[in-house]
Amino acid sequence: MNTKLEALQREIEAFQTDSFEKLDKFRLKYLGKKGELTLLFDNIRSIPAEERKAFGQNVNNLKNKVLEKFEMLKSQIDAHTVVNVKNEVDISCPANSMELGSRHPISVVTQKIYHAFEKIGFTIAEGPEIEDDWHLFSALNFPPEHPARDMQDTFFVATNPDIALRTHTSSIQVRVMEKHRPPIRVICPGRVFRNEVITARSHCMFHQIEGLYVDKNVSFADMKQTLQYFAKEMFGSHINIRLRPSYFPFTEPSAEMDISCDICGGKGCNLCKYSGWVEILGCGMVDPNVLANMGINPEEYSGFAFGMGVERITQQLYKTKDIRLFFENDVRFLKQFESL
Ligand code: PHE
Repeated sequence: MNTKLEALQREIEAFQTDSFEKLDKFRLKYLGKKGELTLLFDNIRSIPAEERKAFGQNVNNLKNKVLEKFEMLKSQIDAHTVVNVKNEVDISCPANSMELGSRHPISVVTQKIYHAFEKIGFTIAEGPEIEDDWHLFSALNFPPEHPARDMQDTFFVATNPDIALRTHTSSIQVRVMEKHRPPIRVICPGRVFRNEVITARSHCMFHQIEGLYVDKNVSFADMKQTLQYFAKEMFGSHINIRLRPSYFPFTEPSAEMDISCDICGGKGCNLCKYSGWVEILGCGMVDPNVLANMGINPEEYSGFAFGMGVERITQQLYKTKDIRLFFENDVRFLKQFESL
């Protein structure tokens, strides 16, 4: 390639602009009627016959380079401006679409739970995430040797063994009963912390919603009815519940509630571990000792309480398999809840 062509090639490669006007001038400079490459084509006859073919190819390559560069810069400029060459706003341009945020699935489900209980007269109560031994354990009838008080389950504040991150939202029950006299009807949402290994099924932090109902003549049947209503509101009217005897220091009798597995319809699948049932909450009649600790006369009043894991319920509702997804804030996961 001769030096003239080499010089042109360097010029074309080096050219940059962010204006349509300059870009058009660039095109005309080489490819216009009197453009440099056009003139070279016109003069091809003056080239010795044996060099003509190679020369023609070289000029053609340069022409393609100009066209490529033109398209590339044009799309760059297009992308960066909504103003056309005449500096007028092009009102026919589509607007830049706005990225919509989405609520976190845990918030979505918490709201759903609130809504179910609001309809039957429950209000919301909250409490602190850093709690003392009294609200977490002692007031709730935990014996001094109970394993939950062990370092292995509870995150204590290093400098004060009386203070810990709350391990359950039952501490809010205590705070409500300290302040209010029956009738009490509250649900208490909150984050809780346990010293557990992080796996697909367990995490050191999760969300619970506690429920507490204290009044005259509250019975186990009232609790069962309330929980059955909740399960049907939450998961659909085809869902059945069952209560299994259990133990909590602050309720007597205590139970665990299962719902019929919505994935296999109760036939058995790997989500319900082939039992047809999925455990979703713990519950029971408030232990008379707890009422007495709060200065509420257990001869006059009775109540029920329940506590559920929000992640567990979310997993049932949306069939997510790994609890860690809720805390990673991976936009690809969260986007799937955009429409909720
Ligand atoms: N606090 C219990 C837990 O964290 C749940 C519970 C709440 C059980 C209220 C009974 C009554 O497992």
